[in-house]
Amino acid sequence: MAKPDEGSLIGLDVGTTGARAVAIDLAGDILAAATEEYPMAMPRPGWTEQEPEDWWAASRAVLSSVISETSQTPLALGLTGQMHGAVFLDESDSVIRPALLWNDQRTQRQCRDITEKVGPQRLVQVTGNPALTGFQAPKILWLRDEEPAAYARLRRVLLPKDYVRLRLTGEYATDVSDASGTLLLDLRKRRWSDEILDALAIPGEWLPAVHEGPDITGAVTASAAGVTGLRAGLIVAAGGGDNAAGAVGNGIVRPGAVSSSVGTSGVVFAHSDEPVIDSLGRLHSFCHALPGAYHVMGVTLSAGGSLRWWRDIAVGNSYDALAALANQAPPGAGGLVFLPYLSGERTPVLDPAARGAFVGLNMTHTLAHLTRAVMEGVVHSLKQCLDLIAALPLPITDVRATGGGARNPVWRQLQADIFGMPVYRNAVDEGPAFGAALLAGLACGAYASVLDVTSRIRLGPDVTEPDPDASRLYREYHEVYASLYASTSGAMHRLSALGGASLTF
Ligand code: XUL
Repeated sequence: MAKPDEGSLIGLDVGTTGARAVAIDLAGDILAAATEEYPMAMPRPGWTEQEPEDWWAASRAVLSSVISETSQTPLALGLTGQMHGAVFLDESDSVIRPALLWNDQRTQRQCRDITEKVGPQRLVQVTGNPALTGFQAPKILWLRDEEPAAYARLRRVLLPKDYVRLRLTGEYATDVSDASGTLLLDLRKRRWSDEILDALAIPGEWLPAVHEGPDITGAVTASAAGVTGLRAGLIVAAGGGDNAAGAVGNGIVRPGAVSSSVGTSGVVFAHSDEPVIDSLGRLHSFCHALPGAYHVMGVTLSAGGSLRWWRDIAVGNSYDALAALANQAPPGAGGLVFLPYLSGERTPVLDPAARGAFVGLNMTHTLAHLTRAVMEGVVHSLKQCLDLIAALPLPITDVRATGGGARNPVWRQLQADIFGMPVYRNAVDEGPAFGAALLAGLACGAYASVLDVTSRIRLGPDVTEPDPDASRLYREYHEVYASLYASTSGAMHRLSALGGASLTF
């Protein structure tokens, strides 16, 4: 393919709170960006769902917006999105029921079933991971067990961004990083595992074709062109799950640099050249969005999600106002610790029935203390992810803050102080959509190599240094934080069972 020397690259992120599109030039500078939100339903505690039609409507809106604002001809589109979700389609590609999302916890029974059928060790040997409630495979088995009429109509299962791909290109396709989060991928072979599919009696033809992130998976159809403003025939790259695509955009494409992201979820992400597996399954081991590469990540289910909950129920106001309020309280929030297990938790406790808590409340505490404790609790959870990565045979040279949380200095200072390390930022921090646009650049030949891509990624001037006194104090708070799950999990489980048995008033 001839190497184009001008034009734009488009990235589309089908996220949890909304869709975001960016257009960049070939130097990696942002030309246009647009975001459109959609709702998330929580029909019961621990259940989360979205309407795939909402993703498509928001995707159309943000794509139209960036296309109308960009004079440079688009060369390719790359896709990314929230991981693990299950979109169930019938034989005419109609959506059978709302999609189950990554932070949905209804599949505990199916996870036990999978572990029993495949064997716990074999599961980790093949997929790199234990059966976790958020992953896609247990969602398929949940539909089989709980909604048999819907299951009888099932002909295809797609991940969120790949449903939007189907609407754009008419193709059933995914990429290896997102496919890793289904629990159906052979991690080393980077293709669907016939062994796991057979063991779970899931027909392989229900799943999309698996590609490497920069592969071309199809082209925009005439009808999709009509509703998005994209050119018919524009090539669409496989892309990556939001964390892997975000990591490409942040330069986490070699051993050493690690990202710490605060979005709805919180993720600490490290590149690896080979699969590296935490023997207790507390870190996810997935394919990276770059050919042949891998990654590990620790996931806090409710990171920005905890602050959003706190804002909505207690404080109101913008996130920046909330951070300013938190900053009025001292480090440690005056002896108060928050556990962010509002949606259960993955790393490190792997417990769908874990529940959140404020521990240490006293009469002097104000909204400022509670707000600070929420933010600190999230960062203590990320510190646990970071410590697990540090214990692997992987180097950590620098930590880069990303996601909505990286934009606010209070979040960044909390990370530097609680991690006890300087925290850097990239010059362009446009998140997963930016990484997806870079992958699109590889797909269309605008970039000759991964090195060519990474030369577009620059660290910004902001470095947040840890305050030694705060770091010393936080080491003690972290010990308390880390001890609280073990001492309260019995109560959490009972409360989760009591609260889950819903009463109608
Ligand atoms: C990663 C995960 C979340 C979602 C949210 O395993 O579940 O980070 O990808 O976007």
